[in-house]
Amino acid sequence: MEQAKDVARAILAEIEKAGASFDRAEPNHEQRFLNLDRAAGEFLFFLVRATRRRRVVEIGTSNGCSTIWLAMALRELAAPGRLITIERNPQKQRAAVDNVRRASVHDYVEFLRGDATEVARTIDGPIDCIFFDADRVSAHLQLKVLWPKLSADCLLVTDNAISHPAELEAYFGLLAALPEFQTLVLPIGKGLHVAHRIASRGARTP
Ligand SMILES: C[S@@+](CC[C@H](N)C(=O)[O-])C[C@H]1O[C@@H](n2cnc3c(N)ncnc32)[C@H](O)[C@@H]1O
Repeated sequence: MEQAKDVARAILAEIEKAGASFDRAEPNHEQRFLNLDRAAGEFLFFLVRATRRRRVVEIGTSNGCSTIWLAMALRELAAPGRLITIERNPQKQRAAVDNVRRASVHDYVEFLRGDATEVARTIDGPIDCIFFDADRVSAHLQLKVLWPKLSADCLLVTDNAISHPAELEAYFGLLAALPEFQTLVLPIGKGLHVAHRIASRGARTP
């Protein structure tokens, strides 16, 4: 396992370096990889592992940087968990499939392609963690679709909470209307918004 961890971390370091250099030279924002910061990746790995998430959905795969962090955490469970990751850009998804395989975590990942809200409708529950890292403005739509499929104990993590709060306004508004969730914004990377629910009573539909 230690050797497998080293392989995945070496691939992560390579992706981060290549991604940052590609993004600096790429004028089209849509084509950039926009990988999450290392500190955010380390924290995501820690959180998913420590809270023993088993069925994770990631929205916004890009070339697979956060996908590898999440899959590394799922791999460490006694009965390994499963990650479904969604991306609309075919080139980025191809790069992610390749990177995830090179990091040797492909056994834990399923790749779906298309618009996140539409694809989310096809995913079966239960889901105990969602990582939102796509266009931000549609995160509330994906939450509405996935809401009925969430387990009572669930964790929602959203990147860019400090860098782009206005674009996440609808998402924050939806979550604020849900009393079962405890939320926190952490100054890690571009700002991670974390919401956790342990629903002891019946869960409400938004
Ligand atoms: C910030 S990047 C994700 C970075 C990735 N999580 C990582 O750490 O490497 C956002 C990605 O989400 C994809 N995306 C944005 N909006 C989307 C949508 N509505 N449906 C599917 N994919 C979307 C973009 O193509 C882009 O690759």
